[in-house]
Amino acid sequence: MSAGAAVTVRVPAKINLGLVVGGARADGYHELATVFHAVSLYDHVSAAPAADGRSARLTVCGPRAAGVPTGEGNLALRAARLLAERTGVAPGVDLRLVKGIPVAGGMAGGSADAAGALVACDLLWRTGLSREQLLALAAELGSDVPFALVGGTVVGAGRGERLTSAMARGSTCWVLAVTQAGLSTPRVYAEADRLRAGASGAGTPSVHPRVPLRLMQALSAGDTAALGRALCNDLQQAACSLAPHLGAVLAAGRRAGALGGVVSGSGPTVAFLVRDAAAAAGVAAAVRACAQVTGVERVQGPVPGACRVQPVTAGGPGS
Ligand code: C5P
Repeated sequence: MSAGAAVTVRVPAKINLGLVVGGARADGYHELATVFHAVSLYDHVSAAPAADGRSARLTVCGPRAAGVPTGEGNLALRAARLLAERTGVAPGVDLRLVKGIPVAGGMAGGSADAAGALVACDLLWRTGLSREQLLALAAELGSDVPFALVGGTVVGAGRGERLTSAMARGSTCWVLAVTQAGLSTPRVYAEADRLRAGASGAGTPSVHPRVPLRLMQALSAGDTAALGRALCNDLQQAACSLAPHLGAVLAAGRRAGALGGVVSGSGPTVAFLVRDAAAAAGVAAAVRACAQVTGVERVQGPVPGACRVQPVTAGGPGS
């Protein structure tokens, strides 16, 4: 199988419109029910033939490159190696990440890079895997990686890797408040378990968590105000416990007229749903003034998952 010319793939960040966390499983993961929503904040993954034809190497650049692991722990490298191993090709590739998604921000940036590397290397090496085969490899790499391939608005079950389509109408407009110091996902889940165990009268977490009906109804009706009220995240309290400034950020965005605000996944990025561009400007100004908010993004959803695009320069993600 011969390698072709360089390939660039664009992959979106996600927000969890609803995240219901059940009990811890024997494998250490938590059973969950979530609604993933892909938004227009992107990483770009380029795959070019390796000079030596054999090794997988990685460079990282772009506005959010700081803090990305470049060694063996990098999910894009692991994705390339897994694809090579399963398809029997030599893992020769120069991977280049242009980071636009916050690192450790609860927006599945690492998962986006894994999904991007799978698609880019599949095209570069002409391995020609089916969508189902790519989704199965994605699930091995991480709970959020299958969604990064799919995009749109999708219900996730299991540990997040089992996807079914959601009835969702219309588009959404968001302001994202980005904080410099990331939160480790396992730490946030552990904090959620700790808070639950300590809560008086806390019942046993559900074995079969379900997304609230009012969230699904707001989505199918395309009712943005109702969606704002229905946003929910069982990890929010834990994220706020580990990063107490998030409470003030949530309050500031709501005061400034957001239809709803929620910590994205395990945080610390906070996502505010707004009615339109004028409302976005007011919310963006309010959250920018909050301590520890280092970046504000205005994005739209839903957008498609990983797809091939023209190459981008490091300075501008070209989203
Ligand atoms: O699957 P992924 O590698 O992204 O998960 C990172 C960590 O987040 C897991 O090791 C686990 O601690 C936690 N997690 C969890 N339950 C999930 C998803 C993730 O406990 N459903």
